[in-house]
Amino acid sequence: MASVPAAVYVILLCFCVTETVLSDKTRNVLILLADDGGFEIGAYLNKICQTPNIDALAQRSVIFNNAFTSVSSCSPRALLSERPSYEIPEGPCTWLSISFDERSIQVVVDGCCSSIIGKKHVGPASVYKFDYEQTEENNHINQVGRNITHIKLLAREFLANAKKDDKPFFLYVGFHDPHRCGHTEPQYGPFCERFGSGEEGMGHIPDWQPWYYQWDEIQLPYFVQDTEPARRDIAAQYTTISRLDQGVALVLKELEAAGHLDDTLVIYTSDNGIPFPSGRTNFYDPGLREPLIIASPLPNARRNQASGALVSLLDIMPTVLDWYGIKEQVEWESNDVWESDKPKSLLSILEKEPPYSDDEAVFASQTHHEITMYYPMRAIRTRRYKLIHNLNYGMPFPIDQDLYVSPTFQDILNRTRSKQPIPWYKTLKQYYYRPQWEFYDIRQDPAETNNLHGKPSLEQTEAELRERLLRWQRDSRDPWLCSPDAVMESGADDAVCRSLDNGLLHYHPR
Ligand SMILES: *[C@@H]1O[C@H](CO)[C@@H](O)[C@H](O)[C@H]1NC(C)=O
Ligand SMILES: *[C@@H]1O[C@H](CO)[C@@H](O)[C@H](O)[C@H]1NC(C)=O
Repeated sequence: MASVPAAVYVILLCFCVTETVLSDKTRNVLILLADDGGFEIGAYLNKICQTPNIDALAQRSVIFNNAFTSVSSCSPRALLSERPSYEIPEGPCTWLSISFDERSIQVVVDGCCSSIIGKKHVGPASVYKFDYEQTEENNHINQVGRNITHIKLLAREFLANAKKDDKPFFLYVGFHDPHRCGHTEPQYGPFCERFGSGEEGMGHIPDWQPWYYQWDEIQLPYFVQDTEPARRDIAAQYTTISRLDQGVALVLKELEAAGHLDDTLVIYTSDNGIPFPSGRTNFYDPGLREPLIIASPLPNARRNQASGALVSLLDIMPTVLDWYGIKEQVEWESNDVWESDKPKSLLSILEKEPPYSDDEAVFASQTHHEITMYYPMRAIRTRRYKLIHNLNYGMPFPIDQDLYVSPTFQDILNRTRSKQPIPWYKTLKQYYYRPQWEFYDIRQDPAETNNLHGKPSLEQTEAELRERLLRWQRDSRDPWLCSPDAVMESGADDAVCRSLDNGLLHYHPR
């Protein structure tokens, strides 16, 4: 990492939020983030998993059907910053930034009171700093992330403080549900679905009414094998989602009680795909695609409508800036030349569906999940196609600790070892060993099983996607820009890729 010129990343933090900019009417933001949450939501047409409260929020929101994270790994950064993730995690799934400044929502929204309740999981502290912090850094994660009664009381306290200060606020509630906990607290079940359930020894969460599901009645996603252990795993996940759903209701009730329902932009989303094979840590759609529900209190806002716009969670920060009216105040250092495919505000979509376009694209970049899980990938996804670049494709795809111990993965391992059939859409070997380039026609092949890389009739389409991905990497200052066939050397104001002649095709110009 030492070879990365730090100066390239230094961005002027010159944001002056003035009273006039924040306008006559107070404008607040509430972000509700699920941890490893997916589409087990009524509003996203799951018929079994009951989420009446998220559904009620969706009824006064725009429901995005094509929202994607930019990193499939515990990525609050994907939505608290507009920079893609090129950092190094420290320990399982925690973040250590390489030595460059980046801006984050809290810095930008300096001058209003900001708060985080729940899972923080992002650094450095100097950038991701909130006025009010109740996180795993000063509490047990289960209390601030899963105990919805406790979360409710914290939200109440913060909102009362904000009222005293009479300033706009930014409240970020990072639920830890429905994250797995089988690797750390197996006594509570694979998804911590027994924590606070009121059963013997599990403690009690007064505001939670747990909902239980039959393993043979769940809605099985296509990327999970159809076996009893996997189905039981999903039933447990649904129970944990009932806690998340009721937690969302409690926080929204606090917002209403504080008198802020009509001046607060409410955003519900998740950080990455569900913790099942092909989900979290993967760049297949089950890993990248996210629920995104945005409720605007403005009178002309769309309500209970779906948007087909292709959007990225990197767009959340520009959206929030736009909401606070500070879009124009942001000044970038002149050598930060992000010319194409930049993150954009979604506020206009909350009023009017943009015209359909085949040109839109979203991007993803990932390097690690846990510290040992070095598996850099870059991807571009348009409405029709996805191109994934697996930079270190010779290695087996890494498996994280909590997926490893999950009933679903253990079932795949057991069956593979004992040569029993797995009613699954892949084999373990295919899952582990991936080619350097994966190119899918999502419209024809939504499960992403038919790799079209190198197919003559699509050569030009693939080349265009590769060019656009490289341009995005270059513009967003990706240190892996030249990998794995070249070394990046820095020129005066641009990176140069010098071929390694290591037998791989050299795609980079110069
Ligand atoms: C959840 O929080 C409430 C309020 O702080 C507390 O009374 C309760 O014991 C907590 N439940 C668990 C399971 O920790
Ligand atoms: C996998 O095999 C181990 C060892 O035989 C067993 O303990 C475990 O219950 C099995 N798990 C699943 C999900 O089949």
